[in-house]
Amino acid sequence: MSGARESVHGMWSGRFAFILAATGAAVGLGNIWKFPYIMGENGGGAFVLVYLLCIVLIGIPVMMSEVLIGRRGRQSPGLSVKTLAQEASASPRWQIAGWSGLVASYLILSFYAVVAGWALAYVIKTARGDFQGAGAEAIGAQFGAHLANPWVLMAWSAVILFVTVYVVGRGVHKGLEKAVNFLMPSLFVLLGIMAIYSATNGALGEAVAFMFTPDFSKLTINGVLLALGHAFFTLSLASGAMIIYGAYLPSNVSIAKTSMLIALVDTAVAMLAGLAIYPLVFQYGLTPAEGPGLIFVTLPIAFGSMPFGTFFGTLFFVMLVFAAFTSAIAMIESTVAWLVERKGLSRFTATAATGGSLWLLGLLTVFSFSGASWATFELTVFGKPITSFFEVVDYLTSAIMLPLGGLVIAVFTGWVMKKKITEEELQTSALMYGIWRFAIRWFTPVAVAIVFLHLIGVLDRLLRLLGL
Ligand code: PHE
Repeated sequence: MSGARESVHGMWSGRFAFILAATGAAVGLGNIWKFPYIMGENGGGAFVLVYLLCIVLIGIPVMMSEVLIGRRGRQSPGLSVKTLAQEASASPRWQIAGWSGLVASYLILSFYAVVAGWALAYVIKTARGDFQGAGAEAIGAQFGAHLANPWVLMAWSAVILFVTVYVVGRGVHKGLEKAVNFLMPSLFVLLGIMAIYSATNGALGEAVAFMFTPDFSKLTINGVLLALGHAFFTLSLASGAMIIYGAYLPSNVSIAKTSMLIALVDTAVAMLAGLAIYPLVFQYGLTPAEGPGLIFVTLPIAFGSMPFGTFFGTLFFVMLVFAAFTSAIAMIESTVAWLVERKGLSRFTATAATGGSLWLLGLLTVFSFSGASWATFELTVFGKPITSFFEVVDYLTSAIMLPLGGLVIAVFTGWVMKKKITEEELQTSALMYGIWRFAIRWFTPVAVAIVFLHLIGVLDRLLRLLGL
């Protein structure tokens, strides 16, 4: 029961609407664009295994915590956590857990909109038949040429942001809910078709071996951190999204069950994406470590040669745009809700201002990919080479802000909030509650801390001191 608080922004019409919206937030470029390429860069199977463990052991419990915070606080992430901290007679400083999510979402959306713009451009390229009969090399060259023109990238990301602003500006009911209702199911089916095509026409055996045979010698500590961070990214955690969506959730819906369902669908989509892409990677002699262009240089090969490829390809990129779009909505929503609550802006002005500033920030990503000399450089952070502003923003958010934000959320709901209140809000079986509470109090904080201590070299020194 959520007490007397009500959201000023409106509510989901019910359980199903929330599930669709939250699944829409979770499923996006993270599953279809990012997961396959970072899996490739980090050696395959072992990375996938760590990622799956992180989803189950850390992701689902943290998601439950966030929805709980949102539903009880009924405000934008920072203010929700602040209210609950007051309720627990704890320091208002805990609100950092909400604010860092809001900032992370904002930063992520700055590059997300650019990549969603690539997908939009690819709708047109595919529909025009640009890939018909083209080989792997020509398709790779087309992608390179696309990235090289910053004006084109700017224009497409502007279109994405414009539509996002339009929908979010219309509000929870009329905008957000309508959009996700039919998009999510269609995406799932289409991805299934792609995976079947690749499995029957590509090197399925090699792909499966690559994705599911863990070779731990290929996994570095940075790879572990990226798997952890990606588990947060793909479930939209520590980014305010699940808190703000929880704020619009009716009181009688089971948080535990819905969280598990969302995580399951999200993971299934990522696996399907891997199975749609990797058979082609191996069939056409491409490299798994191709980087952010991976899906744009693999799938068009299939579209170029399969029957009805133009049709399926166009549909695929349309769906990818939609998937990105339902995530973009979730990323912008916290900032908009906060501007409306505290800055007195109308929903529309708040959204437009946020969208405009994001487009500007997105220029860092645009110029990173077009190869402008001011946007590309060489840095090494914790042993990982970082070569552009895009990579800075990506690493800062996914590898650092999300895991640390998740850690704070876990500690807040596990140690700071009163047990009685979390119990009341989760309304689940004693067993389920016990598992959640253990995971949040012990597992998440310890796991995230170990990864970071290892990363900064402290753990190794400690072990050496102990003579281990
Ligand atoms: N989960 C989304 C994806 O995988 C990205 C996202 C991150 C959405 C943070 C909302 C908030 O594409």
